[in-house]
Amino acid sequence: MRDEPLVLGIETSCDETGVGIVRGSTLLADAVASSVDEHARFGGVVPEVASRAHLEAMVPTIDRACRDAGVALSDIDAVAVTSGPGLAGALLVGTSAAKALSLGLGIPLYGVNHLAAHVAVDTLENGPLPEPCIALLVSGGHSSVLRVSDITGDIDPLGATLDDAAGEAFDKVARLLGLPFPGGPWIDRAAVDGDREAIDFPRGLSHARDLERHPYDVSFSGLKTAVARWVEARERAGEAVPVADVAASFQEAVVDVLVRKALAACSDTGIDMLVLGGGVAANSRLRAVAEARATAQGVRVRVPRPGLCTDNGAMVAALGSLMVARGRTPSSLAIATDTSQPVDQVSARE
Ligand code: KG4
Ligand code: ZN
Repeated sequence: MRDEPLVLGIETSCDETGVGIVRGSTLLADAVASSVDEHARFGGVVPEVASRAHLEAMVPTIDRACRDAGVALSDIDAVAVTSGPGLAGALLVGTSAAKALSLGLGIPLYGVNHLAAHVAVDTLENGPLPEPCIALLVSGGHSSVLRVSDITGDIDPLGATLDDAAGEAFDKVARLLGLPFPGGPWIDRAAVDGDREAIDFPRGLSHARDLERHPYDVSFSGLKTAVARWVEARERAGEAVPVADVAASFQEAVVDVLVRKALAACSDTGIDMLVLGGGVAANSRLRAVAEARATAQGVRVRVPRPGLCTDNGAMVAALGSLMVARGRTPSSLAIATDTSQPVDQVSARE
């Protein structure tokens, strides 16, 4: 156990500066500095503000992670970093820091995919990933159903969103309801006091004719528009908007579709293991519904604790650690950032 490599992971794809340290699959430190408060008044992440915040937070966050883990930088055996997808300037700060550590410490560098890292983080809590498995990856920028044969290099995208990502839909609907940014956690909280059946919002791509062409794809723009129309109609009529009921009914529509699509992928492929990952996997209703329906279908669900679902450095360290363990070739110092790195491109392109 003590001989397993010590891997430091750096995440800067959006507004969280994350530095995680793992030994093998044991989490030693998970330091996160967020610039979310600086973006809140704009209702979304401002790329230049995020880049500057990463620059300021990078070195202190690395220091904090080392302190938390009780290790010195010179103890680190390998460094992993998110090479994409994400914001260009933000990614550049993380990859530059990782390259500097790789060069300065003489240790291998692994440029890795942020989305694959959201799935790999599960190994820190729930042990080795059963492969193949189906992964439902739901974040602020992406929503995908994946067949994962090898998280370090063999991921097959089965379905994705045709428009908004699940987290984006949460954020937009929250804004409509006057809730702060990012809206996901606020909707989750507001929904607790609401009636999930109060409003029958549409389930996108769920009709028989859609299922044929898009068995595992999702779409949330119709749902978002339906919520906007419903709220507008109330406001025009001078009636109060029942925020808790709208939040609960909207959340139910999103969760219903996501779970149905992910479980359809499980039954169609004969794979009985579903892994949830990404910021929206922190959603309490998604976790509960996935668990209940999967159990009824004989599928096991794995999902990390909410704090590891949202962006962090531990997830990057976790994937880096698997890269090391499986003998994947390290990246060169010449790797570029890739703002739209596809989910099946697990390692940074050389
Ligand atoms: O994975 P993540 O931290 O960043 C990206 O890679 O995008 O995901 C952020 C997204 C945001 O849209 C946020 O509103 C959503 O995850 N989110 C949630 C919850 N916590 C975060 N959505 C629903 N319920 C939550 N509890
Ligand atoms: Zn993410």
